[in-house]
Amino acid sequence: MKILVPDLTQPLEYSSIDRFNYTMTGIPGLDDLLDGKGIPEGSSVSIIGAPGAGKTTLAMQFLANGMHMFGEAGIYVSLDEDLTSLRRAMSVIGIDIETLIGKGLTLIDATHLRTLPKEVKVANQRLTKGEFTLLSLTESIRTRVEETKAKRIVIDPLAMFTIIFPDETERRVAVADLIHDLSKFGATTLLLTELQNDGLNRSYQIEDYLSQGVILMRKILRDDNIFYVMRIEKMRSIEHEIKPRLYRVEKGGIKVLSEESLRGVLKEGIVDISKSL
Ligand SMILES: Nc1ncnc2c1ncn2[C@@H]1O[C@H](COP(=O)(O)OP(=O)(O)O)[C@@H](O)[C@H]1O
Ligand SMILES: [Mg+2]
Repeated sequence: MKILVPDLTQPLEYSSIDRFNYTMTGIPGLDDLLDGKGIPEGSSVSIIGAPGAGKTTLAMQFLANGMHMFGEAGIYVSLDEDLTSLRRAMSVIGIDIETLIGKGLTLIDATHLRTLPKEVKVANQRLTKGEFTLLSLTESIRTRVEETKAKRIVIDPLAMFTIIFPDETERRVAVADLIHDLSKFGATTLLLTELQNDGLNRSYQIEDYLSQGVILMRKILRDDNIFYVMRIEKMRSIEHEIKPRLYRVEKGGIKVLSEESLRGVLKEGIVDISKSL
Protein backbone atom coordinates (compact mmCIF):
# COMPACT_ATOMS: atom_id res chain seq x y z
CA MET A 1 0.00 0.00 0.00
CA LYS A 2 1.31 3.43 -0.90
CA ILE A 3 1.00 6.11 1.72
CA LEU A 4 0.67 9.63 0.41
CA VAL A 5 2.57 12.19 2.42
CA PRO A 6 2.28 15.87 1.48
CA ASP A 7 5.56 17.35 0.29
CA LEU A 8 6.25 19.92 2.97
CA THR A 9 9.27 21.28 1.08
CA GLN A 10 6.93 22.79 -1.50
CA PRO A 11 5.34 26.20 -0.84
CA LEU A 12 1.79 26.05 0.42
CA GLU A 13 -0.94 27.18 -1.90
CA TYR A 14 -1.93 30.43 -0.34
CA SER A 15 -4.82 30.91 -2.71
CA SER A 16 -6.78 28.39 -0.71
CA ILE A 17 -6.38 30.38 2.50
CA ASP A 18 -9.04 32.96 1.77
CA ARG A 19 -11.73 30.40 1.22
CA PHE A 20 -12.95 31.14 4.76
CA ASN A 21 -16.31 32.68 5.27
CA TYR A 22 -16.71 35.19 8.04
CA THR A 23 -19.41 36.02 10.54
CA MET A 24 -19.75 39.78 10.89
CA THR A 25 -20.56 40.80 14.44
CA GLY A 26 -22.35 43.96 13.25
CA ILE A 27 -21.19 45.61 16.51
CA PRO A 28 -20.19 49.21 15.72
CA GLY A 29 -16.40 49.38 15.40
CA LEU A 30 -15.68 45.73 16.13
CA ASP A 31 -15.62 44.28 12.62
CA ASP A 32 -13.12 46.98 11.64
CA LEU A 33 -10.72 45.43 14.16
CA LEU A 34 -11.31 42.09 12.43
CA ASP A 35 -10.01 43.14 9.01
CA GLY A 36 -13.49 44.44 8.17
CA LYS A 37 -14.60 40.83 7.82
CA GLY A 38 -15.67 39.55 11.23
CA ILE A 39 -15.00 36.23 12.94
CA PRO A 40 -13.95 33.23 10.83
CA GLU A 41 -17.12 31.20 10.41
CA GLY A 42 -17.40 28.10 12.54
CA SER A 43 -14.81 29.13 15.10
CA SER A 44 -15.21 29.36 18.87
CA VAL A 45 -14.19 32.69 20.34
CA SER A 46 -13.76 33.39 24.05
CA ILE A 47 -15.07 36.70 25.31
CA ILE A 48 -13.17 37.23 28.53
CA GLY A 49 -14.04 40.07 30.88
CA ALA A 50 -14.80 41.28 34.38
CA PRO A 51 -18.38 41.23 35.66
CA GLY A 52 -20.29 44.15 34.16
CA ALA A 53 -17.80 44.58 31.31
CA GLY A 54 -20.62 43.97 28.83
CA LYS A 55 -20.02 40.36 27.75
CA THR A 56 -23.68 39.35 27.78
CA THR A 57 -24.63 42.59 26.04
CA LEU A 58 -22.04 42.05 23.30
CA ALA A 59 -23.14 38.44 22.84
CA MET A 60 -26.82 39.33 22.61
CA GLN A 61 -25.99 42.08 20.10
CA PHE A 62 -24.02 39.52 18.07
CA LEU A 63 -27.11 37.28 17.97
CA ALA A 64 -29.53 40.17 17.31
CA ASN A 65 -27.39 41.51 14.47
CA GLY A 66 -27.22 38.04 12.96
CA MET A 67 -31.01 38.00 12.79
CA HIS A 68 -31.65 41.62 11.79
CA MET A 69 -28.77 42.12 9.36
CA PHE A 70 -28.10 38.67 7.93
CA GLY A 71 -31.26 36.64 8.58
CA GLU A 72 -29.23 34.13 10.62
CA ALA A 73 -30.89 32.25 13.46
CA GLY A 74 -29.07 32.10 16.80
CA ILE A 75 -28.94 30.12 20.02
CA TYR A 76 -28.23 31.51 23.48
CA VAL A 77 -27.37 29.00 26.21
CA SER A 78 -27.62 30.30 29.76
CA LEU A 79 -25.59 28.39 32.32
CA ASP A 80 -26.00 30.91 35.11
CA GLU A 81 -28.72 33.51 34.80
CA ASP A 82 -32.39 32.57 34.75
CA LEU A 83 -34.13 33.70 31.59
CA THR A 84 -36.46 36.16 33.35
CA SER A 85 -33.55 38.08 34.79
CA LEU A 86 -31.76 37.96 31.42
CA ARG A 87 -34.84 39.42 29.69
CA ARG A 88 -34.98 42.22 32.27
CA ALA A 89 -31.24 43.02 32.06
CA MET A 90 -31.31 43.12 28.27
CA SER A 91 -34.41 45.32 28.14
CA VAL A 92 -32.53 47.94 30.21
CA ILE A 93 -29.84 47.89 27.51
CA GLY A 94 -32.56 48.22 24.87
CA ILE A 95 -32.51 44.66 23.54
CA ASP A 96 -35.94 43.05 23.45
CA ILE A 97 -35.61 39.29 23.81
CA GLU A 98 -39.24 38.61 22.77
CA THR A 99 -38.72 40.39 19.44
CA LEU A 100 -35.57 38.34 18.90
CA ILE A 101 -37.39 35.08 19.64
CA GLY A 102 -39.86 36.05 16.92
CA LYS A 103 -36.93 36.51 14.55
CA GLY A 104 -35.21 33.19 15.22
CA LEU A 105 -33.56 33.31 18.65
CA THR A 106 -33.63 30.10 20.69
CA LEU A 107 -32.98 30.38 24.42
CA ILE A 108 -31.70 27.30 26.23
CA ASP A 109 -31.94 27.39 30.01
CA ALA A 110 -29.14 25.12 31.22
CA THR A 111 -28.91 26.59 34.72
CA HIS A 112 -30.00 23.28 36.30
CA LEU A 113 -26.61 21.74 35.33
CA ARG A 114 -25.01 23.72 38.15
CA THR A 115 -26.96 21.87 40.80
CA LEU A 116 -26.73 18.31 39.49
CA PRO A 117 -25.79 15.52 41.90
CA LYS A 118 -22.34 13.94 41.52
CA GLU A 119 -23.79 11.08 39.49
CA VAL A 120 -26.76 11.00 37.14
CA LYS A 121 -28.63 7.90 35.96
CA VAL A 122 -29.72 8.03 32.32
CA ALA A 123 -31.35 5.00 30.65
CA ASN A 124 -29.75 2.57 33.12
CA GLN A 125 -26.35 4.17 32.67
CA ARG A 126 -24.51 6.06 35.36
CA LEU A 127 -22.86 9.26 34.20
CA THR A 128 -20.75 11.63 36.22
CA LYS A 129 -22.03 15.17 36.61
CA GLY A 130 -19.36 16.31 34.12
CA GLU A 131 -20.19 13.65 31.52
CA PHE A 132 -23.89 14.45 31.79
CA THR A 133 -23.22 18.19 31.49
CA LEU A 134 -21.23 17.85 28.28
CA LEU A 135 -23.63 15.35 26.79
CA SER A 136 -26.76 17.35 27.51
CA LEU A 137 -25.17 20.65 26.44
CA THR A 138 -23.91 19.39 23.11
CA GLU A 139 -27.04 17.33 22.42
CA SER A 140 -29.44 20.18 23.14
CA ILE A 141 -27.38 22.56 21.01
CA ARG A 142 -27.09 20.01 18.20
CA THR A 143 -30.87 19.42 18.11
CA ARG A 144 -31.59 23.17 18.03
CA VAL A 145 -28.97 23.80 15.33
CA GLU A 146 -30.57 21.09 13.18
CA GLU A 147 -34.05 22.51 13.77
CA THR A 148 -33.25 26.18 13.26
CA LYS A 149 -30.11 26.08 11.05
CA ALA A 150 -28.57 28.50 13.56
CA LYS A 151 -25.33 30.12 12.46
CA ARG A 152 -24.52 31.81 15.77
CA ILE A 153 -24.26 30.31 19.25
CA VAL A 154 -23.53 31.91 22.62
CA ILE A 155 -22.66 30.03 25.82
CA ASP A 156 -22.87 32.28 28.88
CA PRO A 157 -20.87 31.94 31.08
CA LEU A 158 -18.37 29.19 30.47
CA ALA A 159 -16.93 30.16 33.85
CA MET A 160 -19.72 28.00 35.26
CA PHE A 161 -17.53 25.04 34.25
CA THR A 162 -15.31 25.92 37.21
CA ILE A 163 -18.16 24.82 39.48
CA ILE A 164 -19.20 21.83 37.38
CA PHE A 165 -15.61 20.64 36.90
CA PRO A 166 -13.63 21.70 39.98
CA ASP A 167 -10.62 19.66 38.86
CA GLU A 168 -8.45 21.74 36.51
CA THR A 169 -7.42 18.85 34.24
CA GLU A 170 -10.97 17.57 33.94
CA ARG A 171 -12.15 21.08 33.12
CA ARG A 172 -9.51 21.49 30.45
CA VAL A 173 -10.59 18.26 28.79
CA ALA A 174 -14.25 19.30 29.07
CA VAL A 175 -13.65 22.71 27.44
CA ALA A 176 -11.60 21.07 24.68
CA ASP A 177 -14.35 18.48 24.10
CA LEU A 178 -17.01 21.17 24.02
CA ILE A 179 -15.09 23.29 21.50
CA HIS A 180 -14.46 20.20 19.38
CA ASP A 181 -18.14 19.25 19.40
CA LEU A 182 -19.24 22.80 18.65
CA SER A 183 -16.91 22.95 15.65
CA LYS A 184 -18.98 20.18 14.03
CA PHE A 185 -22.11 22.35 14.03
CA GLY A 186 -20.65 24.89 11.59
CA ALA A 187 -21.93 27.84 13.63
CA THR A 188 -19.76 30.64 15.02
CA THR A 189 -19.70 30.44 18.80
CA LEU A 190 -18.98 32.95 21.54
CA LEU A 191 -17.90 31.45 24.87
CA LEU A 192 -18.31 34.04 27.60
CA THR A 193 -16.09 33.81 30.62
CA GLU A 194 -14.89 35.72 33.64
CA LEU A 195 -11.52 37.38 33.61
CA GLN A 196 -9.28 36.06 36.36
CA ASN A 197 -6.53 38.25 37.80
CA ASP A 198 -7.33 41.46 36.00
CA GLY A 199 -4.41 43.83 35.86
CA LEU A 200 -0.99 44.00 34.35
CA ASN A 201 -0.10 40.37 34.75
CA ARG A 202 -3.29 38.59 33.90
CA SER A 203 -2.70 34.89 33.89
CA TYR A 204 -3.76 33.02 30.80
CA GLN A 205 -6.82 30.85 31.20
CA ILE A 206 -7.78 27.51 29.70
CA GLU A 207 -10.04 29.29 27.20
CA ASP A 208 -7.09 31.32 25.85
CA TYR A 209 -5.37 28.20 24.65
CA LEU A 210 -8.32 26.18 23.46
CA SER A 211 -10.49 28.61 21.53
CA GLN A 212 -9.64 29.97 18.09
CA GLY A 213 -10.06 33.55 19.23
CA VAL A 214 -9.94 35.64 22.39
CA ILE A 215 -11.51 39.05 22.88
CA LEU A 216 -10.66 40.75 26.14
CA MET A 217 -13.08 43.26 27.73
CA ARG A 218 -11.70 45.19 30.67
CA LYS A 219 -13.02 47.79 33.04
CA ILE A 220 -10.26 50.02 34.27
CA LEU A 221 -10.84 52.32 37.21
CA ARG A 222 -8.59 55.36 37.48
CA ASP A 223 -9.26 58.44 39.59
CA ASP A 224 -13.01 57.77 39.81
CA ASN A 225 -13.29 57.27 36.05
CA ILE A 226 -14.14 53.91 34.54
CA PHE A 227 -12.69 53.11 31.14
CA TYR A 228 -13.92 50.18 29.12
CA VAL A 229 -11.11 48.77 27.02
CA MET A 230 -11.37 46.00 24.43
CA ARG A 231 -8.54 44.09 22.82
CA ILE A 232 -8.46 41.24 20.33
CA GLU A 233 -5.88 39.06 21.92
CA LYS A 234 -6.08 36.26 19.43
CA MET A 235 -8.06 35.49 16.28
CA ARG A 236 -6.80 32.72 14.09
CA SER A 237 -7.05 32.91 10.30
CA ILE A 238 -7.42 36.68 10.13
CA GLU A 239 -5.24 39.77 10.25
CA HIS A 240 -6.69 41.59 13.21
CA GLU A 241 -5.93 44.75 15.13
CA ILE A 242 -3.82 44.04 18.18
CA LYS A 243 -3.99 47.44 19.86
CA PRO A 244 -6.55 48.13 22.58
CA ARG A 245 -9.62 50.28 21.94
CA LEU A 246 -12.01 52.10 24.20
CA TYR A 247 -15.61 50.99 24.03
CA ARG A 248 -18.90 52.11 25.53
CA VAL A 249 -21.78 50.18 27.01
CA GLU A 250 -24.87 52.24 26.30
CA LYS A 251 -28.51 51.99 25.33
CA GLY A 252 -28.54 49.80 22.23
CA GLY A 253 -25.40 47.92 23.25
CA ILE A 254 -21.64 48.03 22.84
CA LYS A 255 -19.90 50.53 20.63
CA VAL A 256 -16.16 50.28 19.97
CA LEU A 257 -14.63 53.75 19.67
CA SER A 258 -12.04 55.03 17.22
CA GLU A 259 -8.29 54.63 17.64
CA GLU A 260 -8.08 58.38 18.30
CA SER A 261 -10.35 58.26 21.31
CA LEU A 262 -7.90 56.11 23.29
CA ARG A 263 -5.00 58.26 22.12
CA GLY A 264 -6.98 61.32 23.20
CA VAL A 265 -7.47 59.94 26.68
CA LEU A 266 -3.80 59.08 27.00
CA LYS A 267 -2.62 62.41 25.57
CA GLU A 268 -4.85 64.56 27.74
CA GLY A 269 -3.28 62.78 30.66
CA ILE A 270 -6.66 62.39 32.33
CA VAL A 271 -5.49 59.01 33.47
CA ASP A 272 -2.52 56.85 32.81
CA ILE A 273 -4.13 53.65 31.72
CA SER A 274 -1.45 52.75 29.20
CA LYS A 275 0.32 50.55 31.73
CA SER A 276 -2.76 48.47 32.32
CA LEU A 277 -3.40 47.53 28.72
N1 LIG B 1 -28.49 51.72 29.26
C1 LIG B 1 -27.28 51.52 29.76
N2 LIG B 1 -26.29 52.41 29.56
C2 LIG B 1 -25.07 52.20 30.05
N3 LIG B 1 -24.70 51.12 30.75
C3 LIG B 1 -25.63 50.21 30.99
C4 LIG B 1 -26.96 50.36 30.51
N4 LIG B 1 -27.64 49.27 30.89
C5 LIG B 1 -26.79 48.50 31.59
N5 LIG B 1 -25.58 49.06 31.65
C6 LIG B 1 -24.37 48.51 32.31
O1 LIG B 1 -23.74 47.63 31.42
C7 LIG B 1 -23.23 46.52 32.16
C8 LIG B 1 -23.08 45.37 31.19
O2 LIG B 1 -23.74 44.27 31.62
P1 LIG B 1 -23.51 42.79 31.05
O3 LIG B 1 -23.53 42.79 29.56
O4 LIG B 1 -24.51 41.95 31.74
O5 LIG B 1 -22.03 42.48 31.55
P2 LIG B 1 -21.31 41.08 31.85
O6 LIG B 1 -22.05 40.04 31.10
O7 LIG B 1 -19.90 41.29 31.37
O8 LIG B 1 -21.35 40.89 33.33
C9 LIG B 1 -24.22 46.36 33.29
O9 LIG B 1 -23.58 45.87 34.43
C10 LIG B 1 -24.68 47.77 33.57
O10 LIG B 1 -23.91 48.35 34.59
MG1 LIG C 1 -23.06 38.31 31.80
